[in-house]
Amino acid sequence: MSVVLSVVGARPNFMKLAPVARALSKRRRVRHVIVHTGQHYDPEMSSTFFRELQIAEPDHNLQVGSGSHARQTAAIMERLERLCTKARPDVVLAYGDVNSTAAAALVAAKLGISVGHIEAGLRSRDRSMPEEINRLITDRLSDILFTPSRDASENLRAEGIPAERIQFVGNVMIDSVVHALPAARELDAPKRHALPLGKYVVVTLHRPSNVDEPRTLAVLLDALAEVATDRPVIFPMHPRTRARIASVKVPACSGLRLLEPIAYTEMLSLVASAGLVITDSGGLQEETSYLGIPCITVRANTERPITCTQGTNRLVAPRRDDLLTAVRGVAMTGVNPRPTIERWDGETAERIAGVLCDRERFE
Ligand code: UD1
Repeated sequence: MSVVLSVVGARPNFMKLAPVARALSKRRRVRHVIVHTGQHYDPEMSSTFFRELQIAEPDHNLQVGSGSHARQTAAIMERLERLCTKARPDVVLAYGDVNSTAAAALVAAKLGISVGHIEAGLRSRDRSMPEEINRLITDRLSDILFTPSRDASENLRAEGIPAERIQFVGNVMIDSVVHALPAARELDAPKRHALPLGKYVVVTLHRPSNVDEPRTLAVLLDALAEVATDRPVIFPMHPRTRARIASVKVPACSGLRLLEPIAYTEMLSLVASAGLVITDSGGLQEETSYLGIPCITVRANTERPITCTQGTNRLVAPRRDDLLTAVRGVAMTGVNPRPTIERWDGETAERIAGVLCDRERFE
């Protein structure tokens, strides 16, 4: 029996874990251990997702909570090192680009445990983003690099990562979308929120570069209020954004609806029938591209360029006029062709499980 230990901690990790957990559960000779670092701890940022995505309760919760980057990363490392020393897994899987990801890679690599990185090779080339630092560290230390797209594999090769470590398996986030889409359609969240199909805008913003500086946040809210004068704008807010918004004046506009974070299926249901998504999230750039929903990403760069070249995404600076011009350029017909992106097909987790089993000779 071989032991695969997955380390997750933040909301976007959970959608990547769910399909991998399902695929590994079919392998008889694998024991899959799930460790939640506790980076995200509010029920609507964490336990709701485990329940909805039908992920087994984590075997361990390190309960690190919030803190500065160093403090949070160090707390994860200290607790995970103790756990891994005891459990001696054959492989540690790290997901995405959050602090829990880099901490897991550092701990496992130093203990001589193989590291698998799911969603390897993405690069924004912007080191002011904490996620970019996490990606660089994690990829450098990983033994198996599971990439979502060919450009990601190319980035790794250009950095001198040996080709035999790179596995182009596709996008595991899309596995979760494929799995949940029927339930999301059934839920019909637009009806529940009284939104006209294909004629409303979904917004999420939580990056430090957009929400930590009050002037930038105020400019963005002002632009969104303007957008909301002629179509409903629904904005489920991350706790970071909710905290920052308290210090700026929210423009009075009945069309702009600020909400608490929304559960996975409900969010997918809203996004799948939206006319437009405005975001700074990585996952939404991918989900909208898969679904064919127009997406405006309020960032100077993206580590997911394939969503711009083959998907529905475009980048816009966090400036009022730029954002409004971009929104006006979107037709919002409610009828969108769905792009086909290579290996974004719902089968990525099976490929990951296959690679792990071949490599470790689990079966
Ligand atoms: C983290 C990831 C980011 C990802 C995002 C998704 C890093 C460096 N960043 O950012 O890449 O897109 O998750 O959500 O890992 N908070 C709560 N409740 C929670 C969690 C956080 O209130 O359950 C608040 C706390 O005030 C905390 C702040 O949000 O200080 C930021 O949380 P943190 O985990 O540090 O980073 P995120 O902004 O969530």
